Amino acid sequence: MALAVPTHYTNQVEVTDEAAVFSPEVLAEIDSHIAKYPPDRKRSALIPLLLLVVQRERGYIDNAGVNFLAKKLDIEVTDVWETATFYSMLNMHAVGKYHIQICKTLSCRIMGEPEITGHICNRLGIEPGETTADGKFTVSRVECLGSCGTAPMLQIGFDYHEDLTIEKVDKLLNSLE
Ligand code: FES
Repeated sequence: MALAVPTHYTNQVEVTDEAAVFSPEVLAEIDSHIAKYPPDRKRSALIPLLLLVVQRERGYIDNAGVNFLAKKLDIEVTDVWETATFYSMLNMHAVGKYHIQICKTLSCRIMGEPEITGHICNRLGIEPGETTADGKFTVSRVECLGSCGTAPMLQIGFDYHEDLTIEKVDKLLNSLE
């Protein structure tokens, strides 16, 4: 039998039984998300809770946040992890104030993604997957973000930046530095 090989997701997770603790206000917000779904389908609230609550409150999807959601939604911890690790909008580790997610899939790649990524990384002095020393920028290369017609593109927070050129990227970074 083949041995499981740690990935850049799993090798950073310290698995414990600890569950996250949230304020009464956040708990009410969590319940309001769950209430949008039928009682026997409350696991449908998993993605909103991961993105809009756990990641916001804890900075990223951590072991304690996953344990909390598994218990709250009556699902297995592995159900939470398999969802959390599928979507690039969910971070398994701390990221910088600005998380630059560059689409690396076909349309973006053939329209200049390697040059865009190289330019951003050179300018920030980091490699994809790294965060600048001041904690301001993280660069990631991610799969298709659904904006193929405006390739090459990247996402920062909830904003898309499309039809990128080196000049556009410089202007964008200038506005964030
Ligand atoms: S290939 Fe880049 S957004 Fe689809």
